[in-house]
Amino acid sequence: MTNNNYFQQNFYSEYLKPEDKYVFLKAQPEFKFNVIGAGMIGMEHIRVTMLEGRAAINGVYDLDQSSAEWTKEAFEKEYDYELHLYNSLEEACFDPSVDGLIICTPNYTHLEVMKTAVQSGKHILLEKPMATTIPDVLAIQDLVKDYEGVFQIGLQYRHKPIYDEALHEVLHKKSLGEVKNISLMEHRVPFLDKVDQWNKFSKFSGGTLVEKCCHYFDLMNVVAGSKPVSVYASGSLAVNYQDFEYEGESSDVVDQAFVTVEYENGVKGNFNLCMFAPMFYEEMTVCGSKGRIKTYENDDFLPSSRANTHFEILTGENGTSKISTPMYPAIIQNSGHHGGTYYEHKYFVDNIKGDYKDTATLEEGLWSIVVGVAAEESIKNKAVINIEELLNQSKQAVE
Ligand SMILES: NC(=O)c1ccc[n+]([C@@H]2O[C@H](COP(=O)([O-])OP(=O)(O)OC[C@H]3O[C@@H](n4cnc5c(N)ncnc54)[C@H](O)[C@@H]3O)[C@@H](O)[C@H]2O)c1
Repeated sequence: MTNNNYFQQNFYSEYLKPEDKYVFLKAQPEFKFNVIGAGMIGMEHIRVTMLEGRAAINGVYDLDQSSAEWTKEAFEKEYDYELHLYNSLEEACFDPSVDGLIICTPNYTHLEVMKTAVQSGKHILLEKPMATTIPDVLAIQDLVKDYEGVFQIGLQYRHKPIYDEALHEVLHKKSLGEVKNISLMEHRVPFLDKVDQWNKFSKFSGGTLVEKCCHYFDLMNVVAGSKPVSVYASGSLAVNYQDFEYEGESSDVVDQAFVTVEYENGVKGNFNLCMFAPMFYEEMTVCGSKGRIKTYENDDFLPSSRANTHFEILTGENGTSKISTPMYPAIIQNSGHHGGTYYEHKYFVDNIKGDYKDTATLEEGLWSIVVGVAAEESIKNKAVINIEELLNQSKQAVE
């Protein structure tokens, strides 16, 4: 029986003898994971792993003493055993008592960390974006091409309730008929502070459209059900970080953009980004030959209450229509990224157990970055980027 968080959170059961517990029984973890890079998302991975319950976090490795020590202190306040701090990446990767590695270091370090991690043969959850450039992604592809362990990419937005519903309607029920166009939007607050402020610099992050927006390009690619052929983008650093300097350097990442993507099967996609809005808002519309979906997620920090998710599918006379507010149980919904990270972990453990789930693959990780890199190039060169040419250039760079 897996952990049932509802029973764990809502009832007192301490007075019961162990043999009298069935629904109150806390699942014993079957697997141990190490976290490499214990920053903001590293902490979220720790929390959801412990919440899901079939795996436990054994230890962390972080280059930064302050991240490592803070994480250990926070962990030991919450859970009843000691978190192991490793002294090197090798120690963390090759600990024989550990089954899986969750790699949460900054984007530009993923390839180097992966070179060591794959030698362990352990199951790997690698945070998005896989890398900052297409040649680095191709190098990672090479590292894991015959990998026997689970290799999963941290593109977990597809597991948020609104997108989970949309993907179910589009891909499984095929309620929209043939998809024709997809529009995605993210309006949010500026990039948050990071250790050494790596996300303010393209050389460390790959640029905003790779670092953050690979999530939306992944969704767009999956909904389109096809490969991108060309990308045109317009964007700039319009409002944020005008007086920001870190070690003498100004930020070079965009905070607004419009990106247009054409797919092989004729689907048209567009993405609209604004990172100086006082909220977290994301929206997707999908129009097909038989109907239209509109769905959004909204966290506006206001004291008034309104549902922060919305999903509607209108299919005219082609079938049923519905308007709803998709969500997970509160403890999961509030555990990070509207519950997306929790399900990413649940499915990571399912994949390890051989009960394979629809999680982001190596190839999907690659294509999400291809669109992001093309969009960054398009902004720099004010040109339409042909994806085949971009891939050929990247392959030549590797050879
Ligand atoms: N899937 C998501 O929704 C999501 C959300 C946030 C971040 N991320 C991704 O997770 C990664 C980390 O982001 P973050 O927000 O936690 O950043 P962060 O700066 O908060 O944390 C990164 C941590 O990695 C450590 N680190 C840096 N280089 C290292 C190395 N070589 N070895 C070990 N530790 C190292 C840093 O000291 C820091 O503690 C990035 O790739 C980011 O894009 C994904």
